[in-house]
This record gives sequence, structure tokens and C-alpha cells, in this order.
Amino acid sequence: MKNFTSVHDVKNPDKLIREAISLKKNPWKNVALGKNKTLGLIFLNPSLRTRLSSQKAGQLLGMNVIVMNMDKEGWALEWIDGAVMNTNKTEHIKDAAMVLSKYCDIIGMRAFPTLTDREADYSEHVMKQLVKYATVPVVSLESATLHPLQSLADSMCMYEKWHKNKKPKVVLTWAPHVKALPQAVANSFSEWMQAIPVDFVITHPKGYELSSTFTKGVKIENDQAKALKGADFVYVKNWSAYEPYGQMPTVEKDWLLSAKKMETTNNAYIMHCLPVRRNVEVPDELLDGKRSLISLQAENRLYAATAVFKKILEKSKD
Ligand code: CP
Repeated sequence: MKNFTSVHDVKNPDKLIREAISLKKNPWKNVALGKNKTLGLIFLNPSLRTRLSSQKAGQLLGMNVIVMNMDKEGWALEWIDGAVMNTNKTEHIKDAAMVLSKYCDIIGMRAFPTLTDREADYSEHVMKQLVKYATVPVVSLESATLHPLQSLADSMCMYEKWHKNKKPKVVLTWAPHVKALPQAVANSFSEWMQAIPVDFVITHPKGYELSSTFTKGVKIENDQAKALKGADFVYVKNWSAYEPYGQMPTVEKDWLLSAKKMETTNNAYIMHCLPVRRNVEVPDELLDGKRSLISLQAENRLYAATAVFKKILEKSKD
């Protein structure tokens, strides 16, 4: 694996998921692998799980870890090639990536979308510019349109919890929120669910269609009650509209999940990537209930990151 920016960078997602799970048995087993190697983690946006799990993952592999909150501590970056840099942008990504590549053996970057310029966000020009100018492998810590480390951790949960000899029904349901959020988690989850053996359904109100780039061939059901019937896993997530981009079209019906709504599921597990607005996106009764996987998802972020960095350090062809 050279870079990790989407499921398409992974030759065999099934194998990676199983390897990530197997790391849990002995987390420090590979501590010699990253000796004298440096992991650089660049954040242009806030984080709790991604920042700490990636940092700890580096430590589990024996790496030195450097973390920089680029948005607060670094120079404002110019991303556009050929730009006349006479605005507030002080350093070009071409130069920043060159410098980071001198100091680091792997670079991770988190860069959220603008949610105002769809063309720019969906071209992934920010992540692509880092990949273009870095001379070391790049790992997405969540980009404008995707969050592959989260989806890898989520997929691990399904493998760990599902032992029946049939595919589980996995439902991604849109949830209400107070502010416009990126589509990255939902897009990425959709990509990964198409790469593993599950029956996948997305349910959302009309107006919240995701980009077909990530949902082509996926069953979409606008009736949440219908979608939930017989579900084995219910993944709850808010996202803003793709069209009109970054907006929050009014929703008439009640899309907040409840224990009552869950009664038609197959005693489904509840998933959310966190952070979650309790009782806005998901009620306490579900987040704190016996079928909640939020703690396992957060735990698995550690092993997802470790598995990815390990593959890169090993220069694995997978
Ligand atoms: N789920 C997730 O990526 O959490 P953070 O934004 O806190 O990293």
C-alpha cells in the first residue's frame, strides 16, 4: 500500500479488516517495525479520535510521532499551483509537502471540505496536492469527501459481531443535526459496505441524496421505517445536502431514531462514528443501550490506523 486515501488504495479490504482485528490480540507485537521512523500528523480541523488513535497507532509500531494543528500553528497554505501568492496564504503546499517529506516517513492529513465549493471539494484537490508533492506515503485522516480510517474501523465491528452464515443487513440512516456536516463519513461507509459481504441500504429524506460516485448500485429507500425492517446493523449519521451543496433542506418527517423505531429491526446493533449530538442525532437510550457499538467503533480506530501504518511500513503490495 503506497497511500491510504480511500478503499480503492486497498487491494484486499477483507484481508486488511481481518489483519486489523488480529492486531488486538497483541497490540505491541510490531513495536520494532517503526524504529527510527517518523509519523507526521497534520490537522487542518479539530479531532479527538483520529488524532489520538493515529498518534497511539504510531507508538504501537514504535514510531516517533509529530502532530501539528496546521490551521492554528502553521502558515496558511496555498493549494493552487501557479497562484500569485499576494493574499493571506503564506506557504505553498508544494514547499510544505517537500519539507514534511524530509522530516517524516508517513504523513497523515485531515482536511475537511469547504461545503461551499462542491467542485473543489469533490475533486479532492487538497488531499491530491499533498499526495502529488509529498515524496513519502500519505494517509487520509478524513478528507473533503471520504473518511476511510473510520470506515475500516466500522467494518471491523461488523466482522467481529456477525457470525451467521448469511450476509447481515446494514442500514445507513440519515439523522437530524443542528449544523451542516460533510458527507465524508457516509460516502466512505457506502464505499466500504460495497467492498464487503453485506446487504446495504441507505435511507435518507428526499433532498439528502449522496453523490452517485459513492452510491451507484446501492439500494436507496426514502422510507426510513421500510429500510429499518430486518436490519442487523443500523449506522446513524447526519450529512448536509450534495445538491444544493452544503445546505440543510427542511425535513418534514421525524428522522430521529428511537427504541420504538428499532423494534422492527433484527435487534440491530447501533453505530455512530462520534462525535454525536446526543438526543439530536441519536437518543441516549440507543447510544447507551446494550446494542450500541460506539465504544467498539472508537476502540477499533486504533487498530485500523495501526493496520494501515503497518502495511505502509512493510511496503506491502496489499
Ligand atoms: N470519528 C472521528 O473521526 O472522530 P474525530 O473527528 O474526533 O477524529
